[in-house]
Amino acid sequence: MTSPSTIPAVQVNHARKSFGDKVVLDDVSVQIMPGEIVSLIGPSGAGKSTLLRCMTLLDHFDAAEFLYGDLEVCQNDAHGKAIYKAEAERAARMRFGIVFQNYNLFPHYTVLKNVMDAPIVVQKRDPGEVEREARELLEKIGLEEHANKVPCELSGGQQQRVAIARALAMHPTVMYFDEATSALDPKLTADMQRLIRELAKEGMAVGIVTHEMGFAKLVSDRIAFLFDGEIAEEGPAEQVIDHPRDPRMQRFLSQAED
Ligand SMILES: Nc1ncnc2c1ncn2[C@@H]1O[C@H](COP(=O)(O)OP(=O)(O)O)[C@@H](O)[C@H]1O
Ligand SMILES: [Mg+2]
Repeated sequence: MTSPSTIPAVQVNHARKSFGDKVVLDDVSVQIMPGEIVSLIGPSGAGKSTLLRCMTLLDHFDAAEFLYGDLEVCQNDAHGKAIYKAEAERAARMRFGIVFQNYNLFPHYTVLKNVMDAPIVVQKRDPGEVEREARELLEKIGLEEHANKVPCELSGGQQQRVAIARALAMHPTVMYFDEATSALDPKLTADMQRLIRELAKEGMAVGIVTHEMGFAKLVSDRIAFLFDGEIAEEGPAEQVIDHPRDPRMQRFLSQAED
């Protein structure tokens, strides 16, 4: 049982990011507590992918206060420009896992090797221990009998679960799901919802980027609605979806129903 923690597993405060003249993130703040499920929604072009890319260190904020737990990932200098240090970035990369929409599994590795690779290569952990744990993870997600197959022998839903096991093998404190249910049928979407809930119950902070409002409402504790680089509305899932206050969110919902 994880002890309750009062600091966010990840927090981004006052983040800014531009591409040339185009402001893509304009004073965006997001926090996810341990055990909390937060979905980021918003129309195409709102800045969701950019925010997720920066939170997963595939890109850098121009300015932000950005921490994983108590680990400061970047600091603003006197001019308000984010300064990243390689060591902090390396440490931060161990704190999160990400499940991409297209899974990004290694096609020539078996399922087991996909799950075991990063803990051994990146974290330099003991291979025997890593294998034991990888087999446990595969059992947990119902794929133990597929351990020796390669990804192309599995269905899309199964490949996605391998991607989840692979991310979990790194012992992250935060798990991100990028459009996790876009390619799944209703049964698999329900499975995914159950799995995400289970992870949160064990203390994982979960960040989801999705355009599927129904899924966001069912699975999330909290929803943040990003519009044109700003968090236009944020709150409990039912409130944001069923009783949005912001006119941009109201419009977004009515368009989504069409
Ligand atoms: N590498 C980039 N160079 C220039 N503009 C970009 C780049 N990435 C994203 N953008 C722009 O930033 C805005 C937000 O994009 P994005 O974060 O992909 O939004 P979303 O994921 O919500 O659809 C868009 O206007 C997009 O064209
Ligand atoms: Mg996107």
